[in-house]
Amino acid sequence: MKQGKFITLEGIDGAGKSTQLAWIVELLQRAGLNTVVTREPGGTPLGEQLRTLLLDKSITMHPETEALLMFAARREHLDKVILPALTQGQWVISDRFTDASFAYQSGGRGLDGGKLAILEQWVQGKLQPDLTLYFDVPVEVGQQRVSQIKSVDRFEKEQADFFQRVRAAYLDRAKQFPERIKLIDSSQSLSEVKAAVERTLKVMLNHG
Ligand code: TYD
Repeated sequence: MKQGKFITLEGIDGAGKSTQLAWIVELLQRAGLNTVVTREPGGTPLGEQLRTLLLDKSITMHPETEALLMFAARREHLDKVILPALTQGQWVISDRFTDASFAYQSGGRGLDGGKLAILEQWVQGKLQPDLTLYFDVPVEVGQQRVSQIKSVDRFEKEQADFFQRVRAAYLDRAKQFPERIKLIDSSQSLSEVKAAVERTLKVMLNHG
């Protein structure tokens, strides 16, 4: 059976990736593909419990503890959800993956990227997403959106300078891996963002 493809969505909090998720699934299903939608941290019973701890703003933890828990959840996610689905020919769309660890734990928290690269190699070997859509917005726009929708979690309560570093780290990675990471300007209108997502996915669908 033909192996499925692995698509990940990234962006700072408030970049609008959750809104685009439904659109991406619709486009893939219209193309006749079987899809599995999942998220990080999370996606498995254990991973969702780790997510609760990671997002709980009443908990403090060392940045390395945070990184290790992210990768622990990821190991489980790969084993129980991502790899089995890809093997069965399904297309996996994950709301965040390892680029988020480089952006938040290294960019945001200042952890050594080399340590994260070791965890990445340990947990996923050579596996990388086939396509990553990075939804880019200025920090003020992201913060404005987050403040309107809900009570903030342990990451969302961070200040603008944290998100400036997270965004800069995402932009660096997009430059480092231009074949895999496609930047979508998410400060445009909703319909323009949808059109940009559609164009990017069509390229992938046409190249099989
Ligand atoms: P997010 O995906 O924004 O979900 P929601 O839209 O429900 O808030 O929340 C996950 C948070 O976890 C987000 O602030 C980024 C953070 N995160 C990391 O710091 N490192 C990681 O490796 C991952 C996957 C997420």
